[in-house]
Amino acid sequence: MNAGIHIPNLCYLPEADLPFGGCRLCYVDVEGRGPVTACTLPVSQGMVVNTRTPDVERLRKTAFKLLIAYHDLDCRNCWKNKRCALQKTAAKVKVKLKTPEDFRDLPEEPVPLNKTNPYITCDPNRCILCGKCVCVCTLRNGEPFLDFVGRGHEARITMCSDIALLESTCADCAECVAVCPTAALEPQPALEAALAAAEAKWAG
Ligand code: SF4
Ligand code: SF4
Ligand code: FES
Repeated sequence: MNAGIHIPNLCYLPEADLPFGGCRLCYVDVEGRGPVTACTLPVSQGMVVNTRTPDVERLRKTAFKLLIAYHDLDCRNCWKNKRCALQKTAAKVKVKLKTPEDFRDLPEEPVPLNKTNPYITCDPNRCILCGKCVCVCTLRNGEPFLDFVGRGHEARITMCSDIALLESTCADCAECVAVCPTAALEPQPALEAALAAAEAKWAG
C-alpha cells in the first residue's frame, strides 16, 4: 500500500502496532501462495504481487458484500452521504450499495443509537466493525472508550458510559470520528474544533 498502488481497504491504520485484518478488502495474489490480505503479509525480497486478478477482485467483492450485509444503507438520509469511505470503496470494488441478494432475508433488528457521549453519537447500525476507532482511541488514551461487544453477527461497537472520563479527553481528540469510514460515529457540535484538527491529521 506504500508503493503508490491503490488496494481497497477499510480497516488499515498505518499507526497500528498490528494490522487488524478485519475488512478482507485488501486481497492480493502472491505468486506461489495465492490470495492473501496485503495488510497482514510482510513484504519480502523477491515477492511477486498481483493486485488485480479475477480471483482477488471476486474475493474483494464478497468481502464487501459481507461488510454491508447488516448496514443501514439509507445513504440519502445519512449525514455522511457523498463523503463516506464506504461509498467510495463500493465504487472501487464495483459493488452496488444496496443489501446484497444473499443477505436480504436476514432478520432486521435495528440497534438503538448510543447518545451517552456528549460529543459523539454512536450508530451501531452503520458500523462495519473495522476496529479503527478502537485502535486510535487506544493509541491516544491507553484504554479505549469504544469497544466491541457480542460475537458473530451480534458483534457491535459500543461506547464507554463513563462520562467524566469521556468529557476529559474526547473534547480535544475526535480521532475516532476522523478515522471512521462510515457514519457510525456522528460528531456533535461541541466536537467541532477538535474534529477539524483530527480530520487534517488523518486526511489522505
Ligand atoms: S455510512 Fe456511508 S454507506 Fe452507510 S448510509 Fe451513510 S453514506 Fe451510505
Ligand atoms: S464505529 Fe466506525 S471506526 Fe469504529 S468500528 Fe465501526 S465503522 Fe469502524
Ligand atoms: S485492510 Fe487488510 S483486511 Fe482490511
